[in-house]
Amino acid sequence: VKTQVAIVGAGPAGLLLAHLLKAEGIDCIVIERVSGDYVLGRIRAGVLEQVTIDLMARLGLDSRMKAEGLYHEGFNLADGRRLIHIDIAGLTGKRVMVYGQTELTRDLMDAASPRGVEVIYEAANVALHDIETDAPHITYSKDGLNHRIDARFICGCDGFHGPSRQAIPKSAGKAYERVYPFGWLGILADVPPCEAELIYANHERGFALASMRSPTRSRYYIDVPLSETVDDWPDEKLWDELAIRLGPDAAAHITRGPALEKSVAPLRSFVFEPMRYGSLMLAGDAAHIVPPTGAKGLNLAASDVAYLSDGLIAYFNKQDSAPLASYSEKALARVWKSERFSWSLTRLMHRFPEDGSFERAMQVAELDYIASSKAAQTAIAENYVGLPL
Ligand code: FAD
Ligand code: DHB
Repeated sequence: VKTQVAIVGAGPAGLLLAHLLKAEGIDCIVIERVSGDYVLGRIRAGVLEQVTIDLMARLGLDSRMKAEGLYHEGFNLADGRRLIHIDIAGLTGKRVMVYGQTELTRDLMDAASPRGVEVIYEAANVALHDIETDAPHITYSKDGLNHRIDARFICGCDGFHGPSRQAIPKSAGKAYERVYPFGWLGILADVPPCEAELIYANHERGFALASMRSPTRSRYYIDVPLSETVDDWPDEKLWDELAIRLGPDAAAHITRGPALEKSVAPLRSFVFEPMRYGSLMLAGDAAHIVPPTGAKGLNLAASDVAYLSDGLIAYFNKQDSAPLASYSEKALARVWKSERFSWSLTRLMHRFPEDGSFERAMQVAELDYIASSKAAQTAIAENYVGLPL
């Protein structure tokens, strides 16, 4: 099979890119390792920046988002005693939207076939070939048969563990990495949220986040040592811990319920640069990972795809290769700022094993400063709503 752009991975990055290209008449095929149901079963991001919402609007795929998404004009930091309100709308004039990654992915998936976006699910042994040339190809197997897709470009949207980044010779780029000594244990439950807005808490016992998916569905997280699994956290024990870490005011409004989903996600900061090698471009988690504090991962995937689709559209439809040539540089400028924000909010809100009483006092003092300073709140708010493209 021949196409113009072969896309590896049908997560938010791959599906968004495919729709943006298809809308401009560019041919593409998306290849995904697992099934569509498996992709939708992964409970991940919950907070969208305007940049991400705008891309869905440009595609005309924002009707469900408009009806069901919850605009949030602020969020809270907590230090175990009180809430520090960050008025993001008042400070920046912008808002964020609570709308699950699952829902965004479902909207993109449902629109794929009606719009002629071809997605091949359950493709095994996906491998990239000749990426240093102008005629790369992909091989995979499905239902016992081997297949080949020839393309002008390959876009690696296959997440942190996918084959795309690994196809780039180590000497052709540089990886920056920080692995954190804890993971986030998340619980999803059909209970009303404890607060109208999100709460990120740094309690002496550790981090907690109160989030939501809808007025009747809540998402909560705590940080746990990497040695612990969901089996160490039966529902009641997890609800007890959330009540302590979120503080008495929030605890008074927590409704408990059985877990619809519970999982532990490790925390990592990672950047691979450049985001292009020959005819292969990386986008989203394939190129970079942020720790989830700050809700930047999915939104970075969306901004990468905005730059990348602009580059590919100019290349194919205007015979202008300049925007594609500067893709990596443009995307990385935004990536590094989100990396910094996610890292610093993680540092502020978690207990690190090596931290002593001095480091804890520094966190408390910083939260106290933020509580009293409009300048500090503005700096947080403008990063939280997303930096301009
Ligand atoms: P993925 O979603 O990882 O998609 C990659 C796809 O490639 C997958 O479907 C995978 O199956 C496929 N693939 C992998 N290997 C192969 C292969 N060999 N062949 C073919 N296909 C392959 N971000 C936010 O912006 N806001 C948040 O609130 C937020 N909260 C989060 C909470 C948690 C607990 C976690 C874990 C993440 C969170 N994130 C958040 C991050 C966000 O989920 C990711 O950044 C986002 O999924 C990246 O999208 P992607 O399309 O680049 O990668
Ligand atoms: C959610 C995840 C995040 O990483 C975050 O910062 C806020 C909300 C969530 O899953 O709801």
